[in-house]
Amino acid sequence: MPTRINPSILAADFANLERELGRIASADLVHVDIMDNHFVPNLTFGPPVVERLLQVSPLPFDVHLMIENPERWAPGYAEAGAFSVTFHAEASPDPVALARRLRSIGARAGIALKPGTDVEPYLELLAEFDQVLVMTVEPGFGGQSFMASTMPKLSRLAEAVRSSGLDVWLQVDGGITEETIVIAAEAGANTFVAGSSVFNAADPAEQIARLRAAADEHTHAH
Ligand code: DX5
Ligand code: ZN
Repeated sequence: MPTRINPSILAADFANLERELGRIASADLVHVDIMDNHFVPNLTFGPPVVERLLQVSPLPFDVHLMIENPERWAPGYAEAGAFSVTFHAEASPDPVALARRLRSIGARAGIALKPGTDVEPYLELLAEFDQVLVMTVEPGFGGQSFMASTMPKLSRLAEAVRSSGLDVWLQVDGGITEETIVIAAEAGANTFVAGSSVFNAADPAEQIARLRAAADEHTHAH
């Protein structure tokens, strides 16, 4: 199973986003954090900025919606051309309906779980999603410390994905470094978001390579 490294542009230089995309050309996808100051106590950017960035990005977009009422906003990101759109389980009254809507537009549909959210109710719904995002920090800010307490959820998901035979990507987001990526890979993650560890590195391309190598070395053959 391939390892995907998705740098989060939350940690990029917002005055030079096109240039910042060029510094992560060896990544798999660009992770785009959308925050609304309601679901999380922080605010980033919205559809007009993402639509414009999509026009200049050589890489596909992995949009992470940390917003209330994703039913209202998520389809627009899919229509704009996002490769993947992930919304929070805690914010959606009907995650299956929203995932089906995203897929019908042509995007991959992802569901995200905050650290305190139980994974069990979603295990039987895996066929409805292309990605499950296990948050490894409380959503809202970059630069926080990885919460290893979330790893049992990932192991449970990895086991359920394996026994289902489905190709659901398992993503982790928050506090991913060369050290913590190993823990997440061993627990079964295959898709890794990294903000500060990539963009704060002197050479982001080298850091992406280091993260990829560390994850590959510890990924189980699923
Ligand atoms: C946090 C965001 C993350 C964030 C990760 O709410 O969802 O994507 O950018 O940043 P680091 O890698 O610095 O923890
Ligand atoms: Zn994110």
